[in-house]
Amino acid sequence: MPKTPIAVIGAGAIGRTHIDRIVRSDSLQLAAIADPTDAGKALAQSLNVPWFADHHSMLDRTQPRGAVVATPNSMHISMAVDCLECGVAALVEKPVADTVAEAQVLVDAQSRTGVPVLVGHHRRHNPINRRARDILQSGQLGRVVTANVMATFLKPDPYFNVAWRREKGGGPILINLIHEIDMLRFLLGEIASIQALSSNAVRSFAVEDTAAAVVRFENGALGTLVLSDTATSPWIWDFCAGEQDQYPRQEVQSHFIAGTHGSLSLPDLSMWSYRGERSWHAEITLEKTFVHKADPYTWQLEHFGALIEGRVEPLCSALDGLRTLQATLAVSEAAATGQTVEVNKP
Ligand SMILES: NC(=O)c1ccc[n+]([C@@H]2O[C@H](COP(=O)([O-])OP(=O)(O)OC[C@H]3O[C@@H](n4cnc5c(N)ncnc54)[C@H](O)[C@@H]3O)[C@@H](O)[C@H]2O)c1
Repeated sequence: MPKTPIAVIGAGAIGRTHIDRIVRSDSLQLAAIADPTDAGKALAQSLNVPWFADHHSMLDRTQPRGAVVATPNSMHISMAVDCLECGVAALVEKPVADTVAEAQVLVDAQSRTGVPVLVGHHRRHNPINRRARDILQSGQLGRVVTANVMATFLKPDPYFNVAWRREKGGGPILINLIHEIDMLRFLLGEIASIQALSSNAVRSFAVEDTAAAVVRFENGALGTLVLSDTATSPWIWDFCAGEQDQYPRQEVQSHFIAGTHGSLSLPDLSMWSYRGERSWHAEITLEKTFVHKADPYTWQLEHFGALIEGRVEPLCSALDGLRTLQATLAVSEAAATGQTVEVNKP
């Protein structure tokens, strides 16, 4: 079977992650790279694929079936819509947009053109999360009552030499917490309302370095998320799920979900339940599920290929990207206003 041609727009850090996986894929083929930099051109030459300085000339001169949009956030929507208008499916990196209104433009373009869109919340493609969702949907935990998420880690000082990372919107709520919000939405369903606090007490930049949020899910469950990029701590999914070699692997857990009949920690997929009497005085049983390890970025791209072929529905649609962005922005708004923010749907 011929490989599905995929172009990459934006060959920076995450663009190169995608390029690396496409080049090694049995079902996908790197069709072109669009990136104005010399480094982007050199990468295209080294891989012997066409290079373009911008996505317009790429779309004019090549016919990929899909394109990965891995450019800075503010460019995502216009580039993705240009792809859809040319009949090219788009895998759009997260956050899908800077604002909910922009994200809505993509949702509308997708329904108008009927061309597939996948938003790059890659954790959904990790087999650990797929298994966790199966466990939750099977009802083994009973009615879910709480979810606790830890995301505390240390960004080194040189990281902040780039100006936008010190400004509002450049901080861990929009860059890191968005992954946690999307994972909770994937596992537990829609978020109804959010309360939050944030602090810049350690670095004193305009941007937050620490935040804590309390969320109410539509199903009635409550959740807490604790976030800091100035903490010497191993408790974050990126360290313990082992998804990226750039972070040293830690044998700790970051997510804790409790239901009336059982509880689950992640990423180790430990599940606790009572076999007999259901009481805090009774013995509790621990079961573990061992899933095969897999690289979620590879699985995400394979899923994108299947989506292009019409074999699957998007695991993270444009609307999912919008709703995850909306709930993440609600954390910032709740922290800024001190008010409970209702997460309205479009
Ligand atoms: N899913 C993940 O795990 C993950 C991880 C990192 C970044 N991201 C997201 O991916 C996006 C890119 O982040 P990054 O860290 O790779 O940034 P980056 O700055 O390393 O890369 C961006 C690239 O886009 C290129 N670019 C700029 N303007 C362009 C244009 N007009 N046409 C084509 N290319 C252009 C730049 O030259 C650069 O190579 C962001 O939205 C970010 O939030 C996702």
